[in-house]
Amino acid sequence: MTKIKTIGVLTSGGDSPGMNAAIRAVVRGAIYHGLEVYGIQRGYQGMVDNDMDKMESHSVSNIIQLGGTILKTARCGDFMTFEGRQKAYNNLKQRGIDALVVIGGDGSFAGAEEFGKEFDLPIVGIPGTIDNDICGTEYTIGYDTALNTVVEAVDKIRDTASAHNRLFFIEVMGRNAGFLTLHGGIATGAEAIMVPELTNDYDMLEVFLQNAHKKHKTSSIVLVAEGDEIGGALKLADKVKKEHSEYDVRVTILGHIQRGGSPTARDRINAGRMGVSAIEALLKGEHGVMIGLMKDQIVHHPFSRSKKQKRPLDEKLLELIGILSI
Ligand code: F6P
Repeated sequence: MTKIKTIGVLTSGGDSPGMNAAIRAVVRGAIYHGLEVYGIQRGYQGMVDNDMDKMESHSVSNIIQLGGTILKTARCGDFMTFEGRQKAYNNLKQRGIDALVVIGGDGSFAGAEEFGKEFDLPIVGIPGTIDNDICGTEYTIGYDTALNTVVEAVDKIRDTASAHNRLFFIEVMGRNAGFLTLHGGIATGAEAIMVPELTNDYDMLEVFLQNAHKKHKTSSIVLVAEGDEIGGALKLADKVKKEHSEYDVRVTILGHIQRGGSPTARDRINAGRMGVSAIEALLKGEHGVMIGLMKDQIVHHPFSRSKKQKRPLDEKLLELIGILSI
């Protein structure tokens, strides 16, 4: 095992609040342990294009509270080809970078796994995505902030929904996962949710709509995951409008507002823990692993685990929506 002297850090895939706090922790953790650090711009694209700069402790001053990522991010087509990865590796070698920390989602980890094996390069991943959909960790950086953004927005929509006696369908991000929708639904007292993990959720919504009308419920909020098989909030609202003329229906798509903003305390603290832990893992000779959080304890899992299966929603929490919305 050769001793690591210089690492590169990058953010990849969709940005998430707390990525800056994670960059800060990686840079300072590395410097604390006597390593040199390069910040790689625009994810894997910056490795291919040789766009990277040396970072010092002060390079990450005053960023802990910022959303987005100072290193920028991108989804990189060149890195999908062997030629692109070879170019990236040559650029790293030329700068003496002998290990990487990748902050991103499962797509970024799949790229990291292949690259690390192909060129025998130690790589450690830190899960950063608002979707919270990575297997092997109960928490991803940015999820808590995004969830709180959803709650704040839905609370505001409820005010107007209630003033006008309206039924709102609110679309929430999460790609093919319903975590933001489920937890957001519980936290805002949503009357129903639609998530990709459930196949009978339209039937459940139908029962709810019939009962709610009979009970003269005046306003309702339904959170719809963007990846729900019905095709999103607009499609669902069209269907409901046709079948239930008794409701005054409106739609809000929360969109990229969920990706921005200053990270919550939880996201900042966990970013700090995960960033330093990533450096410690590299120094212990671990590679091809993702840092995770299970029962609030740091764990390390091979990248392969992060893509093995779809992380399931908690069934108890799904039941809770039905119980609490009677
Ligand atoms: O993975 C994070 C995420 O925000 C998903 O929730 C969403 O489906 C996707 O990224 C949107 O990607 P883009 O910003 O490239 O449109």
